[in-house]
Amino acid sequence: MTGLSDPFNRPINYLRISVTDRCNLRCIYCLPPEGISLLPHREILTYEEIAAVARLAAELGINKVRLTGGEPLIRAKLSELVAMLAEIEAIDDISLTTNGILLKQYSAELKQAGLKRVNVSLDSLNRDKFKRITRHEKLDEVLKGIEAARACGLNPVKINMVVMRGINDDEIVDFAKLTIDIGWHVRFIELMPFAADNPPEGHSTGDKTGINTQFMSAKEIKKRLGSLGRLEPSHPITGNGPAKYFRFPQAAGTVGFISPVSQHFCFNCNRLRLTAEGKLRPCLLSDHEVDLRQPLRSGASPEELKKIITEAAQSKPQKHQLTKGKVSGKRLMSQVGG
Ligand code: 5AD
Ligand code: SF4
Repeated sequence: MTGLSDPFNRPINYLRISVTDRCNLRCIYCLPPEGISLLPHREILTYEEIAAVARLAAELGINKVRLTGGEPLIRAKLSELVAMLAEIEAIDDISLTTNGILLKQYSAELKQAGLKRVNVSLDSLNRDKFKRITRHEKLDEVLKGIEAARACGLNPVKINMVVMRGINDDEIVDFAKLTIDIGWHVRFIELMPFAADNPPEGHSTGDKTGINTQFMSAKEIKKRLGSLGRLEPSHPITGNGPAKYFRFPQAAGTVGFISPVSQHFCFNCNRLRLTAEGKLRPCLLSDHEVDLRQPLRSGASPEELKKIITEAAQSKPQKHQLTKGKVSGKRLMSQVGG
């Protein structure tokens, strides 16, 4: 078999690149109110280093990359990195996951640089609730950012809503309605017990967020949509990620469900992650990581680096342990990029 694969014969063709651990929001399920200690700049891979890794990964079979954070758009001149990645012939899909605040400012130059599409995290359409969830009053900026991205052709723009019982579950129907009214593609994500209730050593979470009582399964979320009509299965709009897609008969947009907790989708996982400080992380939910920065900075040859990438793919666990209540002990979501 050519290309990267793991010991379970899953082809690995997708690299998620975190470009920063910093963020301009403090979502309650992701970060404590005071933030966390951040990586010093010298520990973060430069754009040249990221592009070098992506080039080698592409030679090994990676053809899709996604930029994540923290919030990727707060890193200066992100479109320069996009342009460098766009020059790699084997990579045919470059996307971005963002909280949307800076999209209005950057959509046009990102598109111009070669970005194909964006996913925007948005958990509430209500100003007060948006503030309660993100601890910032930025809802209007996000909505303008979404419109700017659509207008620039960064399509399909997908909206990711993390559903939390008692916090934003009363807005599930409002979000789904937008797939009918204005053609949004909305994906409901099950809340993962990532770290806020169970912080990595040395980090406080401020207040307990009660993640377990807030969890709501995709099945229950879907049931809530019954009032809007019959959901018909729909083809994925792009890619072959873990979301399952549906559509209301009269809708231009789709409704997707991402259920990392209630349904294992690890069996067709196709991804590797690169953290901002240059560690390859074979699984979002496992703390096993392989360092690339030190070899990169000490002059390892392309062949040696490719060997490390191949070995990282080979060390992917078969599946996560979420159902046993085990989550990452070392990192917050902002340090992995979702
Ligand atoms: N559970 C589910 N999704 C999460 N995200 C961040 N933290 C969690 C969590 N604990 C989502 C963000 C964003 C993506 C990068 O990951 O909302 O859409
Ligand atoms: Fe920032 Fe995303 Fe974490 Fe919210 S979920 S604090 S937007 S990194």
